[in-house]
Order: sequence, then C-alpha cells, then structure tokens
Amino acid sequence: MDLTTAPPPELVRVAPEDLYADYARGRPREGEKADAYQWAKVLDVSSNWVPPRYRKAHEMPAKARAWADGIVAGADASNLVLMGPPGTGKTHGSCAVARYLTALWEDRHAPSPLLFTSASDLLARMKDYGKDADRQGAYDKAAKAKVLILDDLARSKTTDMDVESYARVLDRRLNALLPTIITTNVFPKENLIETFGDHLASRLLGGSTLVLVGGPDRRYATT
Ligand SMILES: Nc1ncnc2c1ncn2[C@@H]1O[C@H](COP(=O)(O)OP(=O)(O)OP(=O)(O)O)[C@@H](O)[C@H]1O
Ligand SMILES: [Mg+2]
Repeated sequence: MDLTTAPPPELVRVAPEDLYADYARGRPREGEKADAYQWAKVLDVSSNWVPPRYRKAHEMPAKARAWADGIVAGADASNLVLMGPPGTGKTHGSCAVARYLTALWEDRHAPSPLLFTSASDLLARMKDYGKDADRQGAYDKAAKAKVLILDDLARSKTTDMDVESYARVLDRRLNALLPTIITTNVFPKENLIETFGDHLASRLLGGSTLVLVGGPDRRYATT
C-alpha cells in the first residue's frame, strides 16, 4: 500500500481563531454554540500539554472528529489510531483531536486532562533504571491521563519488554474506559499485528477507530 501517493484524508477544522478572540474578550459570540465557546476556553489549558509546534493544531481527519464526537456523546472510550507515512499530519491531527476532546468531554478533569508523550520517551521513563518511584510515576501518569496521545509508535528496536510496557499502559486505560490516541508509521493493520504481536495489537486495534493518513510529506512542502 503506497499512502504517499494516496490523497490525504478529508480534514475538518474545529478551532477558528475568532472563537479564541471571543474568549479573550470574556464572552461567547452572540448566537455561538456553547460547546464552541467552551472549546475556545480550554485552548489555553490543553495547549500547554502538547509540543509548541502543535499548540495551534486545529485540523483533523473527519473520521477522527467523529470518534471524538462519539465519546463526547457518551460512547465508551476507545482508541484512535492514526497510521501513515512520515510528515502526513498524524501528530498534528492527534493534537487537534485531543484538544477538542479534552475541551468537550465532561469526564475530563483539570488541571492536566491531556498527556502527550512520544512512545519512545514513555518507554525510556518506564525502563529499568532510575528510582522505582520515577518509573511507577511515568506509568501512572500515562495510565491515568484522561486523554493520552502516544505519539510515534515505531517499528524499530521494539523489544518484548517494550511491547509489554505499551500493553500494560493500554490495558489499564482500556479497563478504565480512557481514550488513547496513537500515531504510527507502521501500517496497514496487518503490518502492525506482525510488528507488535497479537497481544499488543489486540489492545491497540480492538474496538478502535483506524484512520489511514495519506498524502505527501508536509515537511517538504516549504523546501
Ligand atoms: N493540517 C495541517 N495544517 C497545517 N500544518 C500541518 C497540518 N498537518 C501537518 N502540518 C505540519 O506538517 C508537518 C508534519 O506534520 P506531522 O508532524 O503531524 O506529521 P506526522 O504524520 O506526525 O509525521 P511523522 O510520522 O514523521 O511523525 C508539521 O510541521 C506540521 O506542523
Ligand atoms: Mg508525528
């Protein structure tokens, strides 16, 4: 499957800056939907938990938005998996949808409803060195965040212990009905199962919404 030549997914935009401007003035625009106003209100908060490059991310695949809307409407939380080649907007989309979800989902909690971590950073923190309390703290943070973005689950150098660490986090989150957004360059689904094994793949993919993100590498767009 060559996703680099496939068209990008349909994108929807959910964070017009003018809503933010209304929030800065301290009032919703007349006739503006309350949920849109609420969304703008938490931009301040949730933006602090994603890397600066993605703090203004506001475009997401339509299918990802539908996933978030389902959870807001009361569906059991599940995973959202954005798969595709480098530079196609998976991390951007994941941050946009996570901010949208943390803003609208009534099960969110302040002050840190959203945790963004690269998958390899999380592994490093959960690895067998440093203090026990630090390792447990990293696991707890990832396991308990109301919305977790696990960014860039990579195909390379994933040991059995790494796979087990990811599975531990996902297992705990699935049992607690907490949504996780995963981005990965490993696709399609069959490759993901082959790379990570049945045990982890089942926790990644079971009941999840999968979005194939195609298109050219956006990082080269300005060069
Ligand atoms: N909808 C968008 N609007 C504006 N910029 C975007 C959009 N999507 C992505 N970008 C920009 O394009 C670049 C690549 O996007 P992103 O980092 O999300 O790709 P990726 O699919 O996560 O890549 P990788 O698999 O290599 O991690 C980034 O600089 C990002 O800010
Ligand atoms: Mg990325």
